[in-house]
Amino acid sequence: MQTILIEVQNEYDEAGIARAGAILRAGGLVAIPTETVYGLAANALDPAAVNKIFAAKGRPGDNPLIVHVAAFDEIRPLVTRIGEKAEKLASLFWPGPLTIILPKSAAIPDEVSAGLGTVALRMPSHPVAAALIKAAGVPLAAPSANISGRPSPTNAQHVLADMDGKIDAVVDAGPCSIGVESTVISLAGSVPCLLRPGAVTVRQLEQAVGAIDISPAVFADAGSTQQVMSPGMKYRHYSPKARVIILRGGLERFIDYVVAHRREGDAVLCFEGEKERMPLPAVTFGHEDKASEQAKRLFQALREADELPAQRVFARCPGREGLGLAVYNRLLRAAGFEVVEL
Ligand code: TXA
Ligand code: MG
Repeated sequence: MQTILIEVQNEYDEAGIARAGAILRAGGLVAIPTETVYGLAANALDPAAVNKIFAAKGRPGDNPLIVHVAAFDEIRPLVTRIGEKAEKLASLFWPGPLTIILPKSAAIPDEVSAGLGTVALRMPSHPVAAALIKAAGVPLAAPSANISGRPSPTNAQHVLADMDGKIDAVVDAGPCSIGVESTVISLAGSVPCLLRPGAVTVRQLEQAVGAIDISPAVFADAGSTQQVMSPGMKYRHYSPKARVIILRGGLERFIDYVVAHRREGDAVLCFEGEKERMPLPAVTFGHEDKASEQAKRLFQALREADELPAQRVFARCPGREGLGLAVYNRLLRAAGFEVVEL
C-alpha cells in the first residue's frame, strides 16, 4: 500500500482535512496529529477498520484503544453512564490531554474495548485533530501511531519511519506540543484511579475530584502483578533498540558510574547543558528542571539514541513532580524497569 502524506498548515486547510476525513469515513487508516503524540486513527464504530489498526501496529488484541471525539455530547451514546466526576473532569480538561474511562455502551465494538466492559474517551485539543474528527463524522479510535512497543511518534517523520506502506495516509501538522501521551483516569470503579500519568497532573485531578488511587503499574512492572487494570501497561513500551538503564542520583555520581562501567557501543541520555561533561556520545532530553521540555524531547531522543547507534544507553533520572511523573513513567518503561541507585 502507498501511504499518502497530507501536509496541513492548520485546521483551515479544508482540502487536506476533507481528504483525510473521506479516507476515515471509508474505513481507512490515517495517522493524525494531536497535542500529545500522533495517533493512528480509524472509525471507532467499524470493527473491520479497527482491526486494521491492530494489524498495522502489530498490537496485541487484548490492548484496548482510546476513542476520540470532538464534542462532549458525542460520548453520550458510547457509555452507559457519565456521572458528576466525568462531567467535572471534562469541563476542566477537555479538550486536552486527559482520557477518561467509563462503562461502555453496545455502540462500542469489542475490538475497541478488547473485550472489557469499559471504553477510554478523549477529546484532543489540537485544532487539526478536532477538524479531522468532524470531517470523518464518526468517533475515531486511535492508539499512538508507532509499531507496538516502539517510542510514540511526536512528528510525522516518526510515523513514516514505523508505518510507511502500512496505512493509507499521514496528516502532517508539525511536531506535537506536549510529546507524551494523555493522562488516563478510570472512573469505572468506586474511586477514580490514575492508570497512566500525563500532562494533566495528579494534583490537578485531585483538586477536581478529590482523592484518587494511583495504579501500581505507574511505578512498577505491571506484567508481574496479578491484576492489570490497564492492559497496555503490561507490555514493554517506548523501547528503543538499545538497552536503556536509568541511573538515579546526581550528575557527578552519574559521570563516575559511567566512566567505571562504560563499554564499546554505550551512550548517554542526559539533560540539556550536560553534554560537554559526558564521557560518551550523548543525546539530550530537555533541562533537568523543565519537565515540559523533557516530555517534548523524550521520544525523539530515544529514536536519536538508536541512530547513533547505541547498544546501551545510560539515562539521567527525571524528577517525578507534575508532568515529570509522566516523563519518568515512560523512561522507566523504555528501560524495562532497569534502575541503578547511585
Ligand atoms: O495521548 C494519547 O492518549 C494518544 C493520542 C493518540 O490520543 N493515544 C494513546 O493511545 O496513547 P495508546 O493506545 O497508545 O494508549 C492507550 C492506553 C493503553 O495503555 C491502553 O491499555 C489504555 O490506554 N486503555 C485503553 N482503553 C482502556 C480501558 N477500557 N481500560 C483500561 N485501559 C485502557
Ligand atoms: Mg501507545
